[in-house]
Parts: sequence; structure tokens; C-alpha cells
Amino acid sequence: MKPLTPFSSSRRKFLQQASAAGIACSTNVVFGRFASAQVAPTTSTVRVYVDSRRTIASLDRNLFGSFLEHLGRAIYEGIYEPGSKLSDSNGFRTDVLNEIKKMGVPIIRYPGGNFVSGYNWLDGVGPKQDRPVELDKAWNSLDSNQFGTDEFMAWCKMAGVEPLMGLNLGTGTAEEAAALVEYCNVEKGTKWSNLRRKNGIQLPYKVQKWCLGNEMDGPWQIGHMLATEYGLKAADAARQMRYVDPSLQLVACGSSGPFTPTYLEWDREVLEQCYDYVDALSLHRYFENTPDTTGGDSSKFLAMNLSMEQQIAETLAVCDMVGGRRHSPKKLWLSFDEWNVWYRARSGSDVNGNRQEAPHLLEEVYDLEDALLVGGLINSLLRNADRVKIACLAQLVNVIAPIMTNANGLMRQTIYYPYNWALQYARGRVLNVLTESPTYEVSKMGDVPYVDVAGTVNPEGGKVSLFILNRDLTKPHQVEVNWEDKAPSHLLSSVLLTGEDLKAVNTFDQPQRVAPQALEKPSTAGSRTTVEMPPRSYAVIQWDA
Ligand code: AHR
Repeated sequence: MKPLTPFSSSRRKFLQQASAAGIACSTNVVFGRFASAQVAPTTSTVRVYVDSRRTIASLDRNLFGSFLEHLGRAIYEGIYEPGSKLSDSNGFRTDVLNEIKKMGVPIIRYPGGNFVSGYNWLDGVGPKQDRPVELDKAWNSLDSNQFGTDEFMAWCKMAGVEPLMGLNLGTGTAEEAAALVEYCNVEKGTKWSNLRRKNGIQLPYKVQKWCLGNEMDGPWQIGHMLATEYGLKAADAARQMRYVDPSLQLVACGSSGPFTPTYLEWDREVLEQCYDYVDALSLHRYFENTPDTTGGDSSKFLAMNLSMEQQIAETLAVCDMVGGRRHSPKKLWLSFDEWNVWYRARSGSDVNGNRQEAPHLLEEVYDLEDALLVGGLINSLLRNADRVKIACLAQLVNVIAPIMTNANGLMRQTIYYPYNWALQYARGRVLNVLTESPTYEVSKMGDVPYVDVAGTVNPEGGKVSLFILNRDLTKPHQVEVNWEDKAPSHLLSSVLLTGEDLKAVNTFDQPQRVAPQALEKPSTAGSRTTVEMPPRSYAVIQWDA
């Protein structure tokens, strides 16, 4: 089915009329930043237009991947805890493993993060008693190396997860990167494949996706270098790795975020060296509700997903500029392989492991407003599914994570819910949803729609899911969904995250303070469905064809 273009002339006229009426319309490419003065809308009804023939892209489920780093209690005490009553004979925490399996997390980036830039993968393979205890300089922690590449691959297999392997391009060489590919992907008869077999693993893992280093633009990174130096090293590593296995998909390190002084310049210079050798560029972003960023204003914080979209657009512009100048037939895709809210547990003892094993690091406690923004960020990723093919919620367990563990079990933080809903309900093709919403003004961002909607339609069976964020902190909004082709026949589910207190959190003692509720049943008459979205809320509604 050919997707309708988002800017047919009637569509453009529609957008212009809506803009003149002071109503922001959002599609995947326009999200309501109108410079002209706004006329107050006469009604707070939000109109959403859905046409299952009008789609953006087929949804790659890797858009909802995650990340596990050797950091704090993510690996040790998170997914691996020999001796725990909850662990199996491998030392894998079965409660965590089962949860991740049930969620259906498709891909996990490993082993870092900042950690990877000083990591020698050889320390983490072979007989466990021979593995050294290492000083992890990135987080000033001790790593016993009891969990390494082979344990991760075994865990991934049990969890039904694809590995996204990170390589050390800090202290590590291109040769060592290619050796790890050989260890993982060559069947037998070579130095490194034989080592894997000697370590008891006969069949190769066939790892397809690899990250060429981590945040190499950052002065905090072990082995940080200039963009051109990194670009050359990434190209060399890519060439050597592909000599070993030509089928790999490789991600080069893009900027660590728009705050860096080299933002976009880094990306351009890197790609000028390695464009022909890589498939994708990475982006990272952590959002904050601080005096410096949002002025502590929650209504601005809830608009920050639009800033993620701006970052994606800017990065793609650089990728396409470099590709265009080379007359390359290739278009890069993006790997947004670290994203989340993170600002509280970000200094002092929260980032310094004091040379302990499994220290409590980056144990951010998430509240309702964080979960609402995570919902918005999921909507933004969906709207960019044509070019963002991998994205990783950073991270998954204990470290800036939706899942926390203690000796007796696990607890779901607030952000677990929107992430899990994306995993459960987003299927098939991403809809090019058109939304007319009243707006509010946000400093330096212009007019932001109160209501943000994204959706998917599954061509197999025709299920439609809409993901709706109401950023209004005080008022509900009536949402009217107009089915432009065919109204769905019946409602399958409607779930909601909301609450009186934006700062409410879940704890082991009170794990349900922020938890899904039933959304008042949406009602459908003819080609129109209406539903009321309470203030401060994120919801998913799913219908059958
Ligand atoms: O996810 C935590 C850290 O944030 C990662 O190690 C690093 O890549 C980023 O700066």
C-alpha cells in the first residue's frame, strides 16, 4: 500500500487554515510551532484524523529497545546475582528475566556506555575463576568480570532479546573489535572462534548489530578524540570487522546531545570519514526538569519530546548533507541508543562507585511527570520511525531504569508503564496521525499542542492503537478521533496513567502509587470516537478492525 504524502495540497491547506484559527496541527513533520499570534480556540476539543492508508513507515520493533551497562547494579544484582533465592543455576535473576521476556524487549545494547571505552572483552570470557577483578575507571567501580560476552549471549537467548553489541573504540583497537566479531560470529577454525569453542560454545552467535564506540565526542569519555580521528578509527574498525563478517550493521557515534559544543559539527566530520562504511549514526539524550533547563516548569518539561524531534531532524539533515555531497545512493538510519529522563542521580556519590562492586549508582527515582514525558518521547520516536530504526531506553534495570530490584523481587517505576505499552500495543505500520489541538506557549519553543497523538495500524488483522498525551496540567480535553477510511469495529483496551500529584513515585513499599487505570470508555458513533483525556495523562487505546 502506498502511503499518502503528508503534504498533499489539500492537507497543506488544512494545516494553513488550522494555523490561522490558532490550532496547532501535528503530523510527523509538523508539530505546531507557529510564529504568528494565536487566536484562542473556541473549544478545547481536540480533533484527531486517522486514515489507515496514510502511514509513515513500517514499525521496526527495535525502536523500543533498551540498554544494560556494566554500571552500578544493572548487571550485578540486576540481571545476574548468583546465590540469590531468585536466581537460576546460571546466576540469572529469574524474576527479572521473566519480566523482560514478558515485556518483549526486542534488542538490548551492552556492555556500555562509558564503561565500554575502557573494557577489554577478553577479561570477561573463559573460566570464571581466571577472570580478573578490574577497576572500571568510567564509574570508579570494581568489576569481577563474572558476567561477560558469553553470559550476555546466553541471557539474551533466554530472554528472547537481540544483542546490540558495543565496542571499545576508546582504549581498544580496531583489531580487538574485529577479534570480538570473530569470537562471536565465525563458526570455527580461526584463533578467536576456536577460543569461543574452547570456552564451551560451539555455535556462533551471529551478532548483527554493533556500535562503534560510545560518546567519543565527550571529554568525559575514556579515549575521547577529535571527530576526524574518531571517524578514521571507526572506518578502519568497520573495514576490519566486515572482513570477518560482511553481513554486519554498524552504528557510528554521533553527538552525545545538543548541549555539546561540537553538536552536528562532530557528526559531519565523523561521517566525512566513515559514511561509506557505516549504516547508521547514534544519538543520545537525557531530559531534565531543572531550573537551568525548564525552570522547573512541568508544562515545559512535558513539551520536551518535541525537542527530541528537533534533534532527530537536525541530525538527519547532517547525515543527508554528507551523503548528498558524496552522491551516495545510501541513506543512513539513526540509532537513538540512549534516551530517558535523568537529572537527579547525576553527581557525587550517584556516579562514583568508590571502588565497590555493584554500588548503588544512577538509581533515579521516577515520578508521574517523568512517565508522561516518556510517553511523549515514545510518540516522537513513532513519528520518526521512517529513519530511526533502533532506540534504547537507557537503561533497563536498577540504573536510570523502569525496573528496580532488591533481594526479594522487583518493582516497576512509573516510566515502566508507557514503555511497556509501546512494547505491547505498537504494531505494524506507524500512522501519520493529524492532530488539531489548542496550544499553550512555552518559552523558546513557541506554541505547543496540549494533546500529542501517535498511532499504529497492524495490516495483519487491522488493530489500531493510539497513544495520547495530555500535557494540560489543569484541564481535561475532549479528544475526537475521526476515522477517515473505516471506523474500527470494537474497543480492545484503553489504559491510562494519571494522578493528582505529578511528583508521585512508586517504591518497594508503595509500588502502585502510579499505576495504570482504566480510561473512561471511548464511545464511537459512525466514523467518530470521543474520549475524555484527564489533565496530566497518557493513555493507550486499542481497537480491532
Ligand atoms: O547511561 C548512562 C551513561 O550516560 C552512559 O554510560 C553514557 O554513554 C551516557 O553518558
